[in-house]
Amino acid sequence: MRTVFWDYDTHYLRMIDQRLLPFETAVPEYDTYQAVAEAIRDMVVRGAPAIGAAAAFGMALAARQSRAADRLALLRDLEEAARVLEAARPTAVNLAWAVRRQLRVATDESLESADDVRAALLAEAQRLADEDVALNRRMGFHGAELVADGDTILHHCNTGALATVDWGTALGVIFAAHEQGKRIHVLVDETRPRLQGARLTAWELQQRGIPFDLIADNAAGHFMRRGEVNLVLVGSDRTAANGDVANKIGTYQLGVLARENGVPFYPVVPTSTIDLDLATGDLIPIEERPMDEVLRIIDLGIAPLGITARNPAFDVTPHRYVTGIVTEAGIVYPPFAKNLRAAVARAREIKWE
Ligand code: MRU
Repeated sequence: MRTVFWDYDTHYLRMIDQRLLPFETAVPEYDTYQAVAEAIRDMVVRGAPAIGAAAAFGMALAARQSRAADRLALLRDLEEAARVLEAARPTAVNLAWAVRRQLRVATDESLESADDVRAALLAEAQRLADEDVALNRRMGFHGAELVADGDTILHHCNTGALATVDWGTALGVIFAAHEQGKRIHVLVDETRPRLQGARLTAWELQQRGIPFDLIADNAAGHFMRRGEVNLVLVGSDRTAANGDVANKIGTYQLGVLARENGVPFYPVVPTSTIDLDLATGDLIPIEERPMDEVLRIIDLGIAPLGITARNPAFDVTPHRYVTGIVTEAGIVYPPFAKNLRAAVARAREIKWE
């Protein structure tokens, strides 16, 4: 089952509720763009490509909700929906990328009526979702060449089928290497505060029968220093034009530790996550989430009542720590400023159908 999909029987969006995994599987229905925005904010759906797809379908829902009879009135309603969806989470650029892609469809002069626009938005959301699966497969194929038989790979957060429409980015590389018959072992960072590693990545690896051990985030340096890690693979929520990589909080320290210990560090990044408009990672907006996520684990308080906490959801790893960046257009090496731009241009030429 895909993480995010359109139900063609009910004509509503359905998404796996990732807050409940691994203990419960629920796939609720969404019938308004406002509910989709809330689901993104509340992390029912999370992971940069998955929230991009959710937002694309959210725009299709917004078009159906609108009572506008003509194209111009519909466009005004869609611009409001775009604003609400884009504001749901600030760091992953896939959200704005998907919403803008839908606005471009909505302004296509060849569409004659409001109903034509409604149909085109649903078709485009479906295309975006299908492309996500296809390009993840291709990234997996490119990235698997970095993995040798017998490797131990350190992985952070969740970048698998659940973080995308299906398959995954960094975890997709691991799945591809496993599929090729390479014997690999994964060290899974638990990824505090929301435990995407412990809850989601461990679940996905277990389902596929890939050997792994869950580790506390602060054990990563220990294993790298002892020579027990061959490769670090992570995702990204936004990669700047110079190759600085924003990803789940804790990624920066992995990049530094990997460099210190001579371990290759590769983010796996669809080109939809590359923001060529931002020169460096310092310009990437970093989401701060509620302090309760740090003060509690699931429903259990773990700190004295009445204290405060800080909860940045992402950090930026400067490009000097990045060995290479796996994209659907191949693996990109420094100088990133030049080579990422070329990879984005190459990716635009790929035909997915
Ligand atoms: O806060 P989350 O769970 O949405 O963060 C997800 C990540 O940081 C992933 O590494 C990133 O989205 C890329 S994975 C496809």
